[in-house]
Amino acid sequence: MGFEVRPIAVEEANTFRSALMRTFGEDLPDEEGDTERFLAIVKPQRTYAAFDGTVMVGTSAAFDFELAVPGGLLPMAGFTMAGVQPTHRRRGILRAMMTAHFDDARSCGDVLSGLWASETAIYPRFGFGLAAEGHIVQIATPGLEIRGSTLWDQVDLVEEDDARDRLPPLYAAIRPHRPGMLSRSEPWWEHRRFHDSAARRRGRSSRRYAIASRGAEITGYAVYRQRSEWDDGIPTGKLEVEELLSTDSRAEATLWRFLVNVDLFPNVSWWNAPVDSILPWLASDRRRIQRKRADTLWLRLLDIPLALEARSYLGDGMLRLAIRDRFRRSDTPNDAGADQPDTEIYELRVEAGVRHCTRGQGTPDLVMDVNSLASIYLGGVAPSLLARVGLIEGGPTAVTMADKMFLWPVAPWCPEIF
Ligand SMILES: CC(C)(COP(=O)(O)OP(=O)(O)OC[C@H]1O[C@@H](n2cnc3c(N)ncnc32)[C@H](O)[C@@H]1OP(=O)(O)O)[C@@H](O)C(=O)NCCC(=O)NCCS
Repeated sequence: MGFEVRPIAVEEANTFRSALMRTFGEDLPDEEGDTERFLAIVKPQRTYAAFDGTVMVGTSAAFDFELAVPGGLLPMAGFTMAGVQPTHRRRGILRAMMTAHFDDARSCGDVLSGLWASETAIYPRFGFGLAAEGHIVQIATPGLEIRGSTLWDQVDLVEEDDARDRLPPLYAAIRPHRPGMLSRSEPWWEHRRFHDSAARRRGRSSRRYAIASRGAEITGYAVYRQRSEWDDGIPTGKLEVEELLSTDSRAEATLWRFLVNVDLFPNVSWWNAPVDSILPWLASDRRRIQRKRADTLWLRLLDIPLALEARSYLGDGMLRLAIRDRFRRSDTPNDAGADQPDTEIYELRVEAGVRHCTRGQGTPDLVMDVNSLASIYLGGVAPSLLARVGLIEGGPTAVTMADKMFLWPVAPWCPEIF
């Protein structure tokens, strides 16, 4: 192949960063402390860089995450920073880095690999399936009322120091109940959620932290930035939500009522709201809340029996699943028989809520690619929907059983791009 894939050394961090920025058509921001910030959240031993001779021509890495899945939490490698120099594309470098990533993730005990894709066509070939979506929300606030509650919580704007104490525990308490949410380490909070700079502000204000509380209990928070704008003396400012989390619907209604009533900011937006947000149902006029659906988290199951046993199911049942995997392992030649997918049969049995999944034999109830298994895994996509388009094959009884088992009442949501 003529190139080597290996982890970078600490001294190669800046070469890695600038190679990555170049693949996205950007330059390395020369902000003080950037290298240290990078090394605080990226472990050099979890990078997979490709070299042509001594030149770094490909970059990629994995973050250590724990992902909330229905009724559980699982170690997930967050595949990130993938880029190949324009001089070296379509020669199999991403494929080689992905192979190194899967080998590394399996040896680290990760049950899942997850990512956000720059383009949707890239990752299905590696077994990733779309597992969570988000809504891009634009709200025209004039005349809009938020109802939904007769009781409201208190809202306070707090300084960043206070937010540093209060946000992480609330996030950690809410995370297990929402499939798709990622763990956040202390350095992650520090460097990804609180660190601010002119490059991140992009002409907007610094972050504002609105905290909802009920007595002594914190019930939610909204993090947002503002962009002050005027049009011939008329205020047209924008308020951009970065994150909104709440423990219940009263707190959520309270925070939305606060956000849509900030004078001078009639345009409120959120780039990634949960698709089952209650906001439209709280609003006096839902047409003032425009939503566009976007793909967010893509998942790949690395250990199928472990993953299937680790999540909860809404109903008991037994399904024999034939899972096709078209991505060849590093130890399998890529040329010979590449269109022969590996197929394994798994028997999933849920009795009184107790899950067992073993490799099985015999006639399967359902046949699907590992991608489709990833798509139904977090409970946001109905197996019957994938059956309608032929992505899952099987009889109606087995498909109905799969719906009853796999669907989950809380929509998956990944609040953060990585
Ligand atoms: C996306 C990118 C990393 C692919 O790297 P690459 O080394 O050219 O990919 P490979 O040669 O290993 O390709 C593997 C397969 O993916 C396909 N592929 C790669 N990039 C693709 C793209 N952008 N769209 C569709 N298919 C793509 C290849 O055709 C190849 O298909 P095959 O297995 O059927 O032969 C590279 O194009 C790039 O750096 N793009 C800009 C940055 C970016 O988008 N990064 C991804 C961040 S999520």
